[in-house]
Amino acid sequence: MAFTGAGASAEAGIPTFRGKGGLWDKYKPEELATPHAFSKDPKKVWEWYKWRMSIISRAKPTRAHEVLAKWEERGILMGVVTQNVDGLHQVAGSKNVVELHGSVWRVRCSSCGIKYDLEFGRIPEEELPTCRRCHGLLRPDVVWFGEPIPHDQFNRAQKMFSEAEVILVIGTSGAVMPAAMLPINAAMEGKVLIEINPEETNLSSFSTIKIREPAGKAFDKLDKILWEEGSLEDR
Ligand code: APR
Repeated sequence: MAFTGAGASAEAGIPTFRGKGGLWDKYKPEELATPHAFSKDPKKVWEWYKWRMSIISRAKPTRAHEVLAKWEERGILMGVVTQNVDGLHQVAGSKNVVELHGSVWRVRCSSCGIKYDLEFGRIPEEELPTCRRCHGLLRPDVVWFGEPIPHDQFNRAQKMFSEAEVILVIGTSGAVMPAAMLPINAAMEGKVLIEINPEETNLSSFSTIKIREPAGKAFDKLDKILWEEGSLEDR
């Protein structure tokens, strides 16, 4: 299985959160990615999410997204647990995707709780989108700081981690809990973590193998090794 973070989408031009040029260098998460921020200034939060949605809508899946989808289709990858909200794994063709932190392509009514899927790239026009059913204020259906990961998604993720033998940890700093506990617990249970990240992270010491390359380049090489040298016959 694969566990992905913002670095898996970095080569698609989508900014990461931490490290040089990360979003949290320029913006304060407590002003944009918390329930309090949204209740205090929903217009500002919607403006920031629409800006991110506009960047994502122009993005194409990276080589890493493509290869992960291909390996799932070929039966050597169970699926992906992602912290990303950009939907690019699904655009690339991945089917078994757990979105731990939700998706910017889904909105939720902050009054009646109903969820609406948005098609990829369709950014709400209204300054403050409202619910068709109760006219309440809609919010991005993402997990903000201080909010729990939805149980059903967390349980699906735990199940995938428990069934996996090898976990590819791609493009994540491992800075955010409880998401980062999943690979850490897997490593403590003796599972093999392969970290694909140009930098050291909180998960490096739990990783058996470290591929210090950008994800796109690493997956290009891994795919060649797996298929073109015939080390894995087509299943
Ligand atoms: N290939 C692989 N890894 C990369 C690449 C790349 N091309 N570019 C950057 N990285 C790595 C960085 O070295 C860093 O370790 O991606 C990681 C990105 O870390 P973060 O920006 O912290 O992103 P992430 O780990 O996904 O953050 C987790 O924090 O703000 C919250 O909800 C948000 O889901 C997010 C969570």
